[in-house]
Amino acid sequence: MNNSNLNVQNAPSGAEASKATAVQSPSFQSYLNNDGIDELTPAPRKKRVSSLSLSDQWAGSFHGLTKLNPEPGSPNAGSSTNLRRAGNSSSGNLKRSGSSKLSLRKSQSKKIIDHARVASYAFAFDIDGVIVKGPETIPYAKEAIKILDGNNKYNIKVPYIFVTNGGGRPESARAKELSERLGCEILEEQVIQGHTPMKDLVDVYSNVLVIGGVGDACRKVAEGYGFKNVFIPLDIMYWNPSVTPYYTLTEEDKKVCKKDIDFSKTKIEAILVFADSRNWAADQQIILELLMSKGGYMGTTSTTYDDAPGIYFAHSDFIWATNYKLSRYGMGALQVSIAALYRESTGRELNVTRFGKPQKGTFKYAEKVLKNWRKDVLEEHVEELTSAAGSDEEESDDEEAKQPPQTLAKPVFEESESEDDDEDEGLTFQKLTQLTLDLPPASTVYFVGDTPESDIRFANSHDESWHSILVKTGVYQDGTVPKYKPKYICENVLDAVNYALEREHLLELEEWNSNAADDPSDPDLVQPSVDAVISETEVLIPKTKN
Ligand code: G3P
Ligand code: MG
Repeated sequence: MNNSNLNVQNAPSGAEASKATAVQSPSFQSYLNNDGIDELTPAPRKKRVSSLSLSDQWAGSFHGLTKLNPEPGSPNAGSSTNLRRAGNSSSGNLKRSGSSKLSLRKSQSKKIIDHARVASYAFAFDIDGVIVKGPETIPYAKEAIKILDGNNKYNIKVPYIFVTNGGGRPESARAKELSERLGCEILEEQVIQGHTPMKDLVDVYSNVLVIGGVGDACRKVAEGYGFKNVFIPLDIMYWNPSVTPYYTLTEEDKKVCKKDIDFSKTKIEAILVFADSRNWAADQQIILELLMSKGGYMGTTSTTYDDAPGIYFAHSDFIWATNYKLSRYGMGALQVSIAALYRESTGRELNVTRFGKPQKGTFKYAEKVLKNWRKDVLEEHVEELTSAAGSDEEESDDEEAKQPPQTLAKPVFEESESEDDDEDEGLTFQKLTQLTLDLPPASTVYFVGDTPESDIRFANSHDESWHSILVKTGVYQDGTVPKYKPKYICENVLDAVNYALEREHLLELEEWNSNAADDPSDPDLVQPSVDAVISETEVLIPKTKN
């Protein structure tokens, strides 16, 4: 790959951007404003983070392997002190049920780390062109997800979420479909769609016109988010069929229409494009009328265009990958069309608010979702180990030495809770779930996508810890030069997962062995070589909920 060709200046945001050989006219100006994303400098890491697994950091934090650093006087300070004290004072117990594992970890270098654990890194996946192509599931996806769920030689579970620009149905429905396609359980908490962050507009607008999707599916999604009065173009067409002279409502359409609304008296406060329009001509007619209306009332015109409803797009993908051999026009293309018609009609540029990838708002949202999901995966893992440790306690020392260090978590939990009462184990754990973890940020977030303009730009623009991977199963065509340069490029999602797993294992091993008391220069040991910054350890801070 010729790197010097990768940073194409002033290239369009549209379909041709994926074809680096296309020569653009110097006067070309895209309607898809980049909102300053290309000028952003990704946020640097505030702290250095550890590549040791989250669960090892968790276990270690109880035993002084890593430094606990609650803010003095913060609500965390007391609880973490308690937990640390609990760890230290329980050393008699620990000796029996796990402390030898601790010294193992401290004293022996390894060639491979393969005890059960939760990764410090994470994954985020694009969906169309990475996991699916229209009705087809990309064959490598199932195996890739299985690996992240812990079926790998390193015995590591890697938290992952999905960030798609697609939408048109509830996140729960998308999660269900992914679960069926991938043969595993995906929860709605793992799924962000283009319109998901629009939830934040619920308190801003009462009357919204939602565009896109099949029938009234998007109305239901918006209502599910909490929007009060949600209208769709079919309602307007029912109110006055002359609005769209080239489209007549079908009986099916009529079934989902709101029939009692007078849109000459009902103010549309915002137009929310949730999903791809199924009826461009009719939808554009209505959208443009409202954008040029007086105050969002149908049948009115403005001379100033300054009190029309705002328009929001769930994403700006100009093209996207389906099971057809060539990419198809997407919501970004509708945006271009509306902006062009608006400019032609008014002589003005259309102001648009954009969500989805590569927008910053969606990035922040994704970070929040990923943080919660990593916490859930860690908590579940600790819970599993806690129950497993319960049945392991009587094992011999030899057997014990084969066990992972995370089993340390159990006695610590027991000790911290037994200070207050004599509850049985089940109740003990129940109480422990009240602990919250101040997780360190993911050491790396691997983002796998197929569209350079959305996915790679998204992963490259906002935070240094995100690592973009471009696959060849979707919009990006092998042999072309992507406008936005990924950190890694590979055939498919399975290659992406394997690449990251190997890379991260080397990083983890290097850190593990650098902490070991024996001689890591032993020629039998793997000597990792990864050009990434490894750092001093940042730790989980156990604390209680306020
Ligand atoms: O309409 C969906 C499409 O534009 C992109 O979806 O999953 O590739 O972000 P995705
Ligand atoms: Mg895609």
